[in-house]
Amino acid sequence: MAIHYGTLTVLSFLYLLTCASAIGVNWGIQSSHPLPPSTVVQMLKDNGIQKVKLFEADEGIMEALKKSGIQVMVGIPNDLLDGLAGSEKTAENWVSKNVSKYVNDGVDVRYVAVGNEPFLQTYNGSFLNITYPAIQNVQAALIKAGIGNQVKVTVPLNADVYTSPTGKPSDGDFRSDIHGLMVQIVSFLNDNNAPITVNIYPFISLYEDPNFPLDYAFFQGSAAPVVDGSISYTNVLDANHDTLLSALRKNGFNNLSIIVGEIGWPTDGDMNANMQNARQFNQGLVNHVSSSQGTPLRPGPMDVYLFSLIDEDLKSIQPGNFERHWGILYYDGTPKYQLSLSGTNTSATLVGAKGVKYLDRKWCVLKPSIGLDNQNIAAAVSYACANADCSSLGYKTSCGNLDARGNISYALNSYYQMNDQDERACDFNKLATVTTENPSTTSCRFNIMIEASLATSLRLIRCSWGWVAFVPLLVIFL
Ligand SMILES: *[C@@H]1O[C@H](CO)[C@@H](O)[C@H](O)[C@H]1NC(C)=O
Ligand SMILES: *[C@@H]1O[C@H](CO)[C@@H](O)[C@H](O)[C@H]1NC(C)=O
Ligand SMILES: *[C@@H]1O[C@H](CO)[C@@H](O)[C@H](O)[C@H]1NC(C)=O
Ligand SMILES: *[C@@H]1O[C@H](CO)[C@@H](O)[C@H](O)[C@H]1NC(C)=O
Ligand SMILES: *[C@@H]1O[C@H](CO)[C@@H](O)[C@H](O)[C@H]1NC(C)=O
Ligand SMILES: *[C@@H]1O[C@H](CO)[C@@H](O)[C@H](O)[C@H]1NC(C)=O
Repeated sequence: MAIHYGTLTVLSFLYLLTCASAIGVNWGIQSSHPLPPSTVVQMLKDNGIQKVKLFEADEGIMEALKKSGIQVMVGIPNDLLDGLAGSEKTAENWVSKNVSKYVNDGVDVRYVAVGNEPFLQTYNGSFLNITYPAIQNVQAALIKAGIGNQVKVTVPLNADVYTSPTGKPSDGDFRSDIHGLMVQIVSFLNDNNAPITVNIYPFISLYEDPNFPLDYAFFQGSAAPVVDGSISYTNVLDANHDTLLSALRKNGFNNLSIIVGEIGWPTDGDMNANMQNARQFNQGLVNHVSSSQGTPLRPGPMDVYLFSLIDEDLKSIQPGNFERHWGILYYDGTPKYQLSLSGTNTSATLVGAKGVKYLDRKWCVLKPSIGLDNQNIAAAVSYACANADCSSLGYKTSCGNLDARGNISYALNSYYQMNDQDERACDFNKLATVTTENPSTTSCRFNIMIEASLATSLRLIRCSWGWVAFVPLLVIFL
């Protein structure tokens, strides 16, 4: 018996040490030049990151995660929901191709996230009727595939599916227009021992309401806490989490697990998006999660995925320029700021991606001989910005205080790098020239692009020309 107790103690200790409250990360790939999946997986390991959330079952990424020991939540994009809702067979195919196959090969898939914020108001209710049937069909398919115990369904929802009329977390309930639907979904998750997932964005609260108290976001106490009975909420994560928990309790689901699927702070593209704020928020978040103290209504470990790992230069900037700057790492896997992912070891620091291959050290700039009054400049800049990434230009952003020439060159260079430093992408009717002199300033990085990874290039070939393009390739190889 003594040995058993000893073993148990060691096991629980190891569990606490390795699994209890390590933070996970979102790994999105809406990038023109994503890092090779194997480089990212190595970096995850180097940083001790044990959980990732993916937005789709990308083949290259799933392959790279084989036998990595990293737990995976794999997402299903919203545009697949309709098919999955309408046909059990479609759901079975999806599970077989995108989950079972990889589970059998040693990918530690734990969750399937059905849809991504499908009830967001901007979707005009398009996914309201199909999300729940899709969840049901995917769950049935997981059971049928014999992996229902190890892989659970969930649905990542935006935090506006619940609200509190008084602002007090204890008064939380589901939004009235989708109350019935939410109860159905939650009840189904509960019956299947599956968690609910919610995305919480204090940054967006601040972006939408300049009067939102900044200190309420930052985990360091608040001058004006939200007082709810005997509880004083000093940070918006706890308050938001407990608003959801109250909504669940009110409807009879006291025990449902809650995953925070996305939470983070961007570093650029808005006056409140900068290194200091992002670092303060994310370090506060990591420390809160690793303390395992939980929230006032649910003390204990929390399951949280940081948004996000790496910047994505193809994300839509319709919500704001900050959308392309959520990463704790730049596009090339370089850490942006000092962040200890182990809350207890304050001297630990982020480890960047290793072995990243860059294109040549050269940039595209406005020719010195071209005057600012040149009639063609405006069109060139707007073309470059529409087809590349100018989200670091603007009021109080990292490149916001460049002079007019710098501003123009920034746009032209972005286009040139996005096009793999193709000479033709640095012409702009003879306005532009290539230079080997780095135009970057202290706060503003003129990027040099990285080499497109093989997996990505293959994907591009497949998308544009089908398999035809492989024939000459194969001939060359043979
Ligand atoms: C697997 O997932 C990928 C990525 O979302 C998708 O394109 C593909 O259609 C899925 N496969 C099946 C059989 O559903
Ligand atoms: C939602 O409705 C608005 C206004 O009717 C429209 O502009 C927008 O394109 C719609 N969005 C979607 C995703 O259908
Ligand atoms: C959803 O279903 C309801 C009731 O069947 C129907 O009235 C509504 O038009 C449907 N909405 C969409 C977006 O399909
Ligand atoms: C929650 O879990 C506890 C302990 O496992 C159990 O006694 C209780 O009935 C559960 N409550 C609900 C609402 O399922
Ligand atoms: C803390 O992190 C530093 C830097 O990564 C490392 O050298 C040190 O060994 C770590 N200390 C502990 C106790 O893990
Ligand atoms: C720089 O570019 C941004 C975005 O294109 C523009 O809003 C800003 O006015 C420009 N600044 C200067 C000094 O030209």
